[in-house]
Amino acid sequence: MQRIGVLTSGGDASGMNSCIRAVVRKAIYHGIEVIGIKRGYSGFIEAEMYPMNLGSVADIIHRGGTILHTARSERFKTKEGRALAMENVQRFGIQGLVVIGGDGSFTGASIFHQEYGIPVICVPGTIDNDIAGTDYTIGFDTAVNNVVDAINKIRDTATSHERTFVIEVMGRGSGNIALAAGLAGGAESILIPEIPFNVQDICHKLLSGLKRGKLHSIILVAEGAASGLEIGKQIKELTGLDTKVTILGHLQRGGIPTAFDRTLAARLGAKAVELLKDGETNKMVGIKSGEIVATDLTEVIGQPKSIDKEMYELAKILSI
Ligand code: F6P
Repeated sequence: MQRIGVLTSGGDASGMNSCIRAVVRKAIYHGIEVIGIKRGYSGFIEAEMYPMNLGSVADIIHRGGTILHTARSERFKTKEGRALAMENVQRFGIQGLVVIGGDGSFTGASIFHQEYGIPVICVPGTIDNDIAGTDYTIGFDTAVNNVVDAINKIRDTATSHERTFVIEVMGRGSGNIALAAGLAGGAESILIPEIPFNVQDICHKLLSGLKRGKLHSIILVAEGAASGLEIGKQIKELTGLDTKVTILGHLQRGGIPTAFDRTLAARLGAKAVELLKDGETNKMVGIKSGEIVATDLTEVIGQPKSIDKEMYELAKILSI
């Protein structure tokens, strides 16, 4: 393998830069050239591509976002779009591709591989941690820390005013961000799409907490479970409590990547290059019980990722 391409696709996630850095430097270490592809599959189609060297990835390890930029490309879902990308593969002499992104990005990579035989290795990069075949995705840990930081700040004002706060977090169809941040941040209730909930029960818990002298309550709602605004409205109606709603939104996606995310990203990016060099294709690199592993994309794409039920139960016990 003499030349590979690398792109980031879908929602950005802190740590993607650390991964790009690892891909570029590990490839150059092995004498492989790297072409950076900008704006995900959109830039692949539009030939927004450039050769990367050691200096291209200097001073990015601590930066959130992605220096390659990212996009969700509708055109790459079409045969015509992928044919244009293939022309660029030939034009730039790319012999293998590293795709950093989530499930939708992997689907595109897999179809492209099936159609044109170009070797692809995928790296899980999404704050949602909703990808099967890996315990963690790049960006999840930073997002969880962002949420915990926000909970800490909201706690201060919640206590001062003796208020109830509903905080809505991202995660798409997954409750992993809410669960991890809820446990770490000491939320009274955690609403996630994987486990049915009842607003009456939440209100009951709130009121008995108040009776015991609790000064505030925090309810964490995963966006895939319900709308934070709606839950806040219902709680106010059912309890009469002074209830405020905060939707954390995109602040969860940005910021300096944690050491965990940087280390994970470095290990996964380096492994992706090794796999391409060894002639592997159609795989995703991931981490399982601390080990870096490779899983066939057929066992990853569209596969459900279960949440840690023990962790959910523990969060419940600790918040009585
Ligand atoms: O997949 C990452 C994510 O941040 C989800 O948690 C969220 O639902 C979605 O992307 C938001 O997408 P956009 O940035 O396009 O609004």
